Amino acid sequence: MNLPDKGRETGELLAEIARLKEADLPVRGGKVTAYVYDTGRPEVHEAAARAYFEMLEVNTLDPTAFPSVVEMERQVVGAVADLLGGGTGIFTSGGTESIMLAVKAARDSRPVAGRPRMVLPVTAHPAFHKAAHYLGLAVDAVPVDPVTFRADAAAVEAAITDDTVLVVASAPSYPQGVMDPVGPIARAAAARGVLCHVDACVGGWLLPWLREAGAEIPPFDLSVPGVTSISCDLHKFGYSPKGASVVLFADPALRRAAYFASASWPGYTVINATVQSSKSAGPLGGAWATLQALGREGYLELGRTTLAAARRLREGIAAIGGLRALGEPESSLVAFASDGIDVFVLSDEARRRGWFLQPQLSYAGIPANIHITVTGVTLGGVEAMLEVIAESAAAARERGPVKLPEGLVELVAGLDLEALDDAAFGGLAASVGVDPGGSGQPEMAVVNAVLDALPADRREAVLIRFLSAIYA
Ligand SMILES: Cc1ncc(COP(=O)(O)O)c(C=O)c1O
Repeated sequence: MNLPDKGRETGELLAEIARLKEADLPVRGGKVTAYVYDTGRPEVHEAAARAYFEMLEVNTLDPTAFPSVVEMERQVVGAVADLLGGGTGIFTSGGTESIMLAVKAARDSRPVAGRPRMVLPVTAHPAFHKAAHYLGLAVDAVPVDPVTFRADAAAVEAAITDDTVLVVASAPSYPQGVMDPVGPIARAAAARGVLCHVDACVGGWLLPWLREAGAEIPPFDLSVPGVTSISCDLHKFGYSPKGASVVLFADPALRRAAYFASASWPGYTVINATVQSSKSAGPLGGAWATLQALGREGYLELGRTTLAAARRLREGIAAIGGLRALGEPESSLVAFASDGIDVFVLSDEARRRGWFLQPQLSYAGIPANIHITVTGVTLGGVEAMLEVIAESAAAARERGPVKLPEGLVELVAGLDLEALDDAAFGGLAASVGVDPGGSGQPEMAVVNAVLDALPADRREAVLIRFLSAIYA
């Protein structure tokens, strides 16, 4: 029985949560180089947690019932607008929701004769593919420069058709942390009367501080002619607890096209600024408190240390035999590949040493690589990180590339996934040493090597089965 017959004491519940979290990656300390963003200042995260808790039970569903939500959102969205060239915005639960709203606004404000289309560089985040899938758009993906990994503005321009409603540029794109040429892309879009969204989910609350700390950052925000919307995640480099992002629109009419209202039922009237309807104001409180607790000075200082750590990391990686950093990122994201070392094995070796380095599969001619998101806490441990990378690279070289059982890739490629239930899929995964529902430190090199050998649509089908097997 999952539900106890009798209610349990709070202390007991907290002890059980602590036990459940034992195998989790640590969210503080800088040894996890993706997913989590640590300032290295516990008092800031404490302030955010307390504010989150204060706002926890407030429902943002009805802003007339809870005016605190309106005031807090005005302040948070206003701070982002001040930093990113103005505009009018919405507080959302994350980058994906911000992007979903930007795509909906584009679709609904630019009716076209055919199926609405969106032009994306291949490095754009999958949130755009998700938005296209949910909102019924078609995607025209264009290649990026194979050396710089930046979108090619001419290729974007050439892909625009009469049915294109949105063109996308990233600042920066996640895989290599490099900025697309926002100015030329936005200009090309504007010349065709098409909207242009800048995905600054990672960079929106990072690049302005890096610029102030001395980095060369080209213009990328709403001040660039032709940019009509921009997304900026506060739960990334804003260091807020998860559930915090802002989407800004250059034109209030475009923001209205993101909204949804319904009076088509006999119940309460529904007005939604976001995809979600009822939702906790906790993340808004957490974001508000984080901005207030750090202030301009705090973010600038974090920008300085982040910049220093990213530079040291890139320099250190270049000095490790066999590894090469990819591109020249303006941001503090660092990706590196290798010609002689299996990076998936390297990642597993780092995990054994207590560090999580994020593996990325090869795609569109870009090799498999390791991705590191440098945050405020990284600088203090950057030498230790470099040592782990060097040791893990040496161990991976020694072990050699992952050896897949003969015929495994062909077997997975040809599997009739519909004919397998979750238990059978789990059994298949277990036969190659992977336990989808298991805890602890999984060896992922085999899984990554198999995925890497498959085309993207097959990867996606397998991943969906993997997720289903995890929750079986
Ligand atoms: C560039 C970019 N856009 C969008 C997203 C999606 O953000 P979220 O995971 O908050 O939905 C991410 C996440 O890493 C990202 O890196």
